[in-house]
Amino acid sequence: MGQVYEKLQRCYENVRLRMEEMHSTDFVPKVAIVLGSGLGDFAETIRVEYELPYGEIEGFPVSTVPGHAGKFIFGYVGEVPVACMKGRVHYYEGYPISDVVLPIRLLKLMGAEILFLTNAAGGVNPSFQAGDLMMIRDHIAVFAPNPLIGPNIDELGTRFPDMSEVYDKELQKLIRRTAREHHIFLQEGVYTQLTGPSYESPAEIRMLRLMGCDAVGMSTVAEAIAANHMGMKICGISCISNLAAGMTASPLSHKEVQEAADMAAPHFKKLVTEVVQGMGAV
Ligand code: HPA
Repeated sequence: MGQVYEKLQRCYENVRLRMEEMHSTDFVPKVAIVLGSGLGDFAETIRVEYELPYGEIEGFPVSTVPGHAGKFIFGYVGEVPVACMKGRVHYYEGYPISDVVLPIRLLKLMGAEILFLTNAAGGVNPSFQAGDLMMIRDHIAVFAPNPLIGPNIDELGTRFPDMSEVYDKELQKLIRRTAREHHIFLQEGVYTQLTGPSYESPAEIRMLRLMGCDAVGMSTVAEAIAANHMGMKICGISCISNLAAGMTASPLSHKEVQEAADMAAPHFKKLVTEVVQGMGAV
C-alpha cells in the first residue's frame, strides 16, 4: 500500500474510533460540504450530531489561515445527512497536495456521494461584482499541482480519469432552479485554481480572462479532481469577494475578501441550505 493511501486509512480508522466513542457509527453523510473563507455561517443551519476538530484526528492536516477554524460538523440539513468541513487546508500553506485532498477522500470513505465545494474567489469576468455568487460549470487545473500525481490509488479510482463532466449536470440544474425559486442572483462560469498565496498580477488576470476563466482562487480544483477520481457527484459555488487584480483602483486584501464574503453570506447560506435539501432526492 502506498504512503498516501496508508495515511488516509489511518485517518479514517481514527475517525471511526471517535464515532464509536460518540455512538454515531451508523451516521452516513450523503453530502460533503466544504465551506470557503468567510462562508462558515452556513454551519448554523446544520442540526448537529457531533463535531470533530481536525486537530483531534491523528495525522490530519490542520489549517493555519485566520478565518479557517478547522472542524468537521456532522449532522442534518432538513432530512439530508451531511458532513461539513468548516475550514480547509490550502496548498500554499506548504502541505503536499495529497494532504490537501485527504479530507475529501476521507469523506468519500465515510459514505458521502455528493461533494459540494464552496470558496471565495476573485471575479475575472468584467460583468461580475463583489458579492455575486457564481455556480462553477467547469475549471482550469493546469496552474496547480494535480493531486493524482504519484502511484495511482487503484482502490479509489482509475489512473487516467475522464474530466469531461466534473461538475454534475443534474446538480447544476438543481442549483439554477433553486436560485431562481428564491430570487437569488446567480452567475455561472469557469473557476481557475492558482497556488497563491500571493494574489495575481493584472497581466495574469488578463491572461486568465483570455483563457476563458471567470473566477480565480486558491482552492477547490484539486479537491474536485480527487473527488471526480473517486466517482463522486460534484458541484460548486464561488462567492465573488472582489474583482481580480487590475480591475479596480484598490489593492487586494484578505480583509476585503472576508468582508465581501460576509456581505454575501445570507444569500449564500439560503442557497446552499435549499440546494442541499434538494439533494435528498438526487
Ligand atoms: N485571487 C485569488 N484568490 C482569491 C481572490 C483573488 O482575487 N479573492 C479571493 N480569493
